[in-house]
Amino acid sequence: ENGMHAPHQDWDHKPWNKTFDHQSIRRGYQVYREVCAACHSMSLVSWRNLVGVSHTEAEVKEMAAEYEYEDGPDDQGNMFKRPGKLSDRFPAAYPNEEAARAANGGAYPPDLSCIVKARHGEEDYIFALLLGYTEPPAGISIREGLHFNRYFPGGAISMARSLYDEVVDYEDGTPNNASQLAKDVTTFLTWASYPEHDERKKLGMKAIALSATLFVLSIWYKRFKWAPIK
Ligand code: HEM
Repeated sequence: ENGMHAPHQDWDHKPWNKTFDHQSIRRGYQVYREVCAACHSMSLVSWRNLVGVSHTEAEVKEMAAEYEYEDGPDDQGNMFKRPGKLSDRFPAAYPNEEAARAANGGAYPPDLSCIVKARHGEEDYIFALLLGYTEPPAGISIREGLHFNRYFPGGAISMARSLYDEVVDYEDGTPNNASQLAKDVTTFLTWASYPEHDERKKLGMKAIALSATLFVLSIWYKRFKWAPIK
């Protein structure tokens, strides 16, 4: 059975001529890092991808350097550890799938790099899912270790609710209630799935401006050419 249809939200980036809310991407990264990254990897995202999107280059360099990466071999053939740099991918939540399943009662927390693209309902679904935890309907019992979520297909999900009011503290003074946290992390995940989104829309607007100019010019030119004949 399918989950409930996720209601549509007024995303800032949805209108045809609007880019992402980059402050929201920035806060959403913080939610991902402080909450979701404990269980979910984003193995396709590199630190450098955040530069100019949500953070400055100096900020991202510092953030990357807080993690240790294995590198090598060096001249002696040894592997070594070094701080992360811009070209590294986000660190994985677990060493491998077996470890991830072992820590989550057998369920696998999917990689979130492309999750918005991968799920029917896209950002509306992710947002609804994060807040969609309730008691199971009367007469439905949920197996130990599973949680009822009315937006998850089948209703019983292995992921517990993780977003509550104030579980993350924002530096910019934005209210940190659960739905704001869900909105921001979903905006961040939507950017990760569609990093080309802003460029695509800006290019589209240039194309419209250019075609409109050419169209107006062509009308003027046609009138000019036909003027002596009338
Ligand atoms: C599944 C997002 C935090 C463990 C999922 C799914 C999404 C998601 C989109 C896929 C649901 C689907 O298949 O349709 C997030 C976000 C988080 C978060 C945005 C932070 C706000 C966590 C945490 C844990 C966790 C902290 C571990 C304690 C899991 C597991 C699944 C899952 C085990 C697989 C569920 C199943 O297939 O039954 N999560 N998650 N998640 N998540 Fe999370």
